[in-house]
Amino acid sequence: MHKPEQKVYYPDPCYRDSALIHDYNELYHEFEKDPDAFWRRIASDLLWFKQWDNVKVWNHPYASWFTGAELNITYNCLERHVNNDRRNKVAIFWAGENGRERIFTYYQLYKDVMRMGNALKSLGVRKGDRVCIYLPGIPELVVSMLACARIGAVHTVVFAGYGAKALNERITGAGAKIVITADASVRRGGSIPLKPIVEEALINAPTVERVIILRTQEPKVGLLDEFELDYEELIAQADRYCEPVPVNSEDPLFILYTSGTTGAPKGIVHAAGGYMVGAYYTTKYVLTLRENDVYWCTADPGWITGHTYGIYGPLLVGGTIFLSEYTPDYPDAGIWWKLIEDYGVTIFYTAPTAIRMFMRMGEEWPDKYDLSSLRLLGSVGEPLNPEAFEWFYKHIGKNKCPILDTWWQTETGMHMVTTMVGLPMKPGFAGKPIPGVIATVVNEEGDPIPPGTTGYLAIKEPWPSMMKTVYQNDERYRQYWSFGKYGYYSSNDLAVMDEDGYIMLLGRSDDIIIVAGHNVGTAEIESALVSHSAVAEAAAIGKPDPLKGNIIKAFVILRNGVEPTQKLIHDLKYHVRIMLGPISVPAELDFVDSLPKTRSGKIMRRVLKAKEMGMDPGDISTLDE
Ligand code: WTA
Repeated sequence: MHKPEQKVYYPDPCYRDSALIHDYNELYHEFEKDPDAFWRRIASDLLWFKQWDNVKVWNHPYASWFTGAELNITYNCLERHVNNDRRNKVAIFWAGENGRERIFTYYQLYKDVMRMGNALKSLGVRKGDRVCIYLPGIPELVVSMLACARIGAVHTVVFAGYGAKALNERITGAGAKIVITADASVRRGGSIPLKPIVEEALINAPTVERVIILRTQEPKVGLLDEFELDYEELIAQADRYCEPVPVNSEDPLFILYTSGTTGAPKGIVHAAGGYMVGAYYTTKYVLTLRENDVYWCTADPGWITGHTYGIYGPLLVGGTIFLSEYTPDYPDAGIWWKLIEDYGVTIFYTAPTAIRMFMRMGEEWPDKYDLSSLRLLGSVGEPLNPEAFEWFYKHIGKNKCPILDTWWQTETGMHMVTTMVGLPMKPGFAGKPIPGVIATVVNEEGDPIPPGTTGYLAIKEPWPSMMKTVYQNDERYRQYWSFGKYGYYSSNDLAVMDEDGYIMLLGRSDDIIIVAGHNVGTAEIESALVSHSAVAEAAAIGKPDPLKGNIIKAFVILRNGVEPTQKLIHDLKYHVRIMLGPISVPAELDFVDSLPKTRSGKIMRRVLKAKEMGMDPGDISTLDE
């Protein structure tokens, strides 16, 4: 097969001597020479109530970071700036549909967080209690997250696009005491009611004591006495000053659910100290967020990208965040570029699926706006294919802005592999492990393989913002650190490394499908389908798609006597939407008489996928005839 020549883009000369660049090799060398000293230096920029005894204690597969230290992440996100020069600096520019705008200075954010912290305390929320936040990307979401952290409570944010079953699983999985939500979310000129979803999700959610509801719509939705509380009233009644509660470095800061390969989602637990250091370090050194930047991370705060690079990272470095509820195509396909022009956005961090959508809509849209404020572009969530890289580089970055294709995961908490500003960029390749990370591509055994050979991405050593555990499933946590004979951390991604050590990601090696950058577990979709009375069995696979990376294709065996109608296809899709939310809905659904299975009864999705794509299914010796 003819292999196209690998293109290399060299950073614009303005970046060569720029103060934004930390020489990659030098920094990596500093890390390698003495990893603990490296992290000690980074962590020392931040404020700790009590110093650590050890930077790291590594007892495979368990790592403890900054042991014995005490801190509060909000003290670093708020007081550290409010008590210094950034008191009146804009922390958040928020742009809502129809030109609605809200601006929070660091001081204003600080005051709101404290009131919300007190409000939660008045409801009996204590250190370690879990609070579920089911809100769209509005400033109250940021306030609620920080308010939890302020009082040592553990937030678990659920993306507001999830359906009732998915929400219920996350609320009960985390054992949340309080749910914070809104009556509705605004989207594409309309509003989507959230309250009915929450009501359904709260059936069989015995740990929930109260629901706090932000009422944005007129007429105001009614509240159930005692159980449902008005967000605004609660804040108005709360005391002004709320002490930051010192937490141990190893205490959980949040739980964030991510799709699992079995039916149930995994509650990824991040610990306060290590997560704070990882988020701070990468926002400063990888995203190079600086004093005068206006930084836009388009990920919803309900995902890990929104947690680390939408909120915590930028607030830790004292940056200005731009947050918006606009979808990329409403009211028209120019809206995001207009926002960049209007707010003078300098760093724009988005997802390949959005870039491919913009490509399809044409460069006449970005060309209408002045994008000269941009200095850096970023991408995350799935591989940034070379065509999308080149379009992004040329039409948005105007052949001058570096592109960071950042590989990382909910579990890693921070960037792991990318091409740091200043290094030559190779479209299609994420890049190299960042200083602080020892990652490589290995075979099934965990041994190195020659450049150009497909293998597994493995991480050899712990890093500060690695997940602490999987909530109430430590066994599942240990599996992550059991790859090959050396017990590396496995990301479950296939990858290939070139002669220069650049890593290209090739997709998942497990039963997770990345749809438009979002993780969806095949098992979740299958169990949702099977819960419908017409379905006997179901299998779901990811099918490559030029826009979304993958789409979901489902194969369904109907129960005896059920007619395979077009209407039923529609009903089944709707059923999945209500249970799990729109992301998980199969784009294609076929009725079949049988499914390829192993003799032990496991569905061979690999065979379905190969057949779907007209490819050789490979080894089918375990297939049950
Ligand atoms: C995929 C998102 C290729 C990968 C931060 C990973 C990527 C999963 C990239 C984690 C990238 C993320 N190139 N693939 N730059 N970034 N992925 O937990 O399969 O939502 O394992 O975290 O997304 O998705 P998650």
